[in-house]
Amino acid sequence: MKQRLGECAKEVEGILDSYLPAEEGYQKTIFEAMNYSMRAGGKRLRPILMREVYRLFGGTGREIEPMMAAIEMIHTSSLIHDDLPCMDNDEYRRGKKTTWVAYGYDMAVLAGDALLIYAVETAARAFAMTDDAAKVGRCIAILAEKTGIYGMIGGQTVDVELTGKPVSRDKLDFIYRLKTGALLEASMLIGAVMAGASEKDCEAVERMASAVGLAFQIQDDILDVTGDQAVIGKPVHSDEKNSKTTYVTLEGLEKARQDAAKLTETALDILYSLPGKNDFLEELIHMLIRREK
Ligand code: IPE
Ligand code: IPE
Ligand code: MG
Ligand code: MG
Ligand code: MG
Repeated sequence: MKQRLGECAKEVEGILDSYLPAEEGYQKTIFEAMNYSMRAGGKRLRPILMREVYRLFGGTGREIEPMMAAIEMIHTSSLIHDDLPCMDNDEYRRGKKTTWVAYGYDMAVLAGDALLIYAVETAARAFAMTDDAAKVGRCIAILAEKTGIYGMIGGQTVDVELTGKPVSRDKLDFIYRLKTGALLEASMLIGAVMAGASEKDCEAVERMASAVGLAFQIQDDILDVTGDQAVIGKPVHSDEKNSKTTYVTLEGLEKARQDAAKLTETALDILYSLPGKNDFLEELIHMLIRREK
């Protein structure tokens, strides 16, 4: 599984690379900063999940590729901004210095903005690769909604605002559903929409992704406490440094592990209820709470 995932990430990186800007012209620095963070590594889970859901519903075309690149650009932009001194103030990401450390605070803000909007430009390339323009339009709307004020940015807002303050379980769930869940929902939902899945199946995929998203963020909180910086590629105890209320501080390690496992079961039950079968996707969802990075 680990090997297959590694091969998959490499293949996805080839696709991502083909959508990154050439580093030339007077604004060269922004291209370099964008590419630095995009090429730093990372698990590439969102594009991988997107394509596996696309395959689950019988998708085979290359029209999914610009969408895969777009979601990874949005995710990477969220990490660049998340690491800024005014946010989580972290100096390592994906095993390298964070973008603000390597390129300065100013360029990191611009690189995050640049990737966010370049993602839309990239996703729009799918119009020229499909015979169904309507579904591409719908996917671009999904990307925007799940990234914006009702998605990742909305979640990060509450996360940042409540830093150092007590957070109720209800609010924590809200934060996780938005800051992390929304981009995983976008990833899997776009896979389904691009493959032409029915409305009912798209709704199920969104619910499945929401459970995966919560489990994923809980595991991220666990790794912040129990992980190894050399493996996860980013600092451990970042949450403690920032006095964050996390799933682990609220519920304890053991319950966090149990709840992540329960959410994974919920996601798998939904997966089994869908038409089609994709063993790799099943394994992948299992692996997300067993991961060490
Ligand atoms: C980290 O995401 C940020 C969260 C939403 C928890 P990943 O763990 O997917 O980070 P990369 O892409 O592998 O670096
Ligand atoms: C961030 O959550 C989620 C994002 C939207 C970037 P964290 O702040 O816990 O992510 P890491 O641990 O820095 O990757
Ligand atoms: Mg954060
Ligand atoms: Mg962070
Ligand atoms: Mg974290």
